[in-house]
Amino acid sequence: MKSKPVMKIAGTGHYLPENILTNKDLEKIMDTTDEWITQRVGIKERRVVGDSGMSTSDMATFAARAAIENAGLKPEDIDAIILATVTPDMNFPSTAIFVQKNLGAVNAAAFDVSAACTGWIYAMTIAEGYIMSGKFKNILVIGAEFLTSLADINDRATYVLFGDGAGAVVVQPADNDHGMIGSYIKSNGELAELLWSYGGGTRANKKVPDQEKMFDENGFDKRSTIRMEGNKVYKYAVRAMIESAEKAMEDAGITEEDLTFLIPHQANLRIIDAIAERVKLHDDKVMRNIQYTGNTSSASIPVALDQAIKQGRIKKGDVVLAAAFGGGFTWGGLVLKI
Ligand code: COA
Repeated sequence: MKSKPVMKIAGTGHYLPENILTNKDLEKIMDTTDEWITQRVGIKERRVVGDSGMSTSDMATFAARAAIENAGLKPEDIDAIILATVTPDMNFPSTAIFVQKNLGAVNAAAFDVSAACTGWIYAMTIAEGYIMSGKFKNILVIGAEFLTSLADINDRATYVLFGDGAGAVVVQPADNDHGMIGSYIKSNGELAELLWSYGGGTRANKKVPDQEKMFDENGFDKRSTIRMEGNKVYKYAVRAMIESAEKAMEDAGITEEDLTFLIPHQANLRIIDAIAERVKLHDDKVMRNIQYTGNTSSASIPVALDQAIKQGRIKKGDVVLAAAFGGGFTWGGLVLKI
């Protein structure tokens, strides 16, 4: 095992919107069933922004406040805010900027990271670099998504999958052998078209492969919502999650025998089961909250981490593997000694 991690997690927090959208609610608005969603994906309900008027930065602010308090700090102690999202408040400035404003984190530098569902893992590796260089001491690393804002109600195969929420951690320089002891990030741009939302950016008016099918039969502009080839994503996701786990463990100098807890990205219960089987961890050592949250993209792992710690499922000394995959494709993993 790596003897000296560079950074540790000093506090965690999360926020999920109060509105609950159940599979039964979905049955009333589209051609789907609770049975189909439960069997194929494992989701029973998801938390959604709905008509609450919240934005991504609002949810991120709640999660960040909880993490700062949990770390015993004040907003002005924060040196940097790194926020992973694919559903920013606006094109610019970054969503992290509004979190800074809401918190009153007047001494921080703030910016966003875009790596889809792997975004929080990417952001953690960036934070590690700052801490290693000695540039910053207290960094907020947030994953926050208003993913239902990109969901296409005419596409039942994607609409049922997603939820909203935010998770945050405060990281600091490690002072002993507890902290982030391994990590791995990777991407493959050849696979961008399997999972994307290609409207809104500077390519919106240029020819893209799907241009001919840009509008559906109801005249709905499909560019602004999530387009996904579910089957292909599923197959690749299982491989990417396993690679992430193996490479992060290799970086940490450990094997699955050393692991005591697993936090997979919550995209599909069957994918979670596949990675749990690979690292040989029993159900009680695997975080599964997708039943209640849906896929919250970059928020999924920090939300699950905070819940697992607060529920007492993760304890001091645990060796936790987190692994994620997402649009890009991007994928990656972390090993945390708590
Ligand atoms: N309710 C009922 N039926 C549905 C449905 C829904 N919500 N969504 C799709 N179907 C239907 C399809 O129309 C299709 O019907 P047909 O056979 O009559 O054409 C059938 O179910 C099978 O569709 P298919 O897309 O092959 O299902 P699948 O077994 O691949 O499951 C996913 C679909 C999305 C659950 C699965 O592919 C998946 O989880 N992929 C990974 C997605 C993911 O994790 N994305 C996020 C990455 S971070």
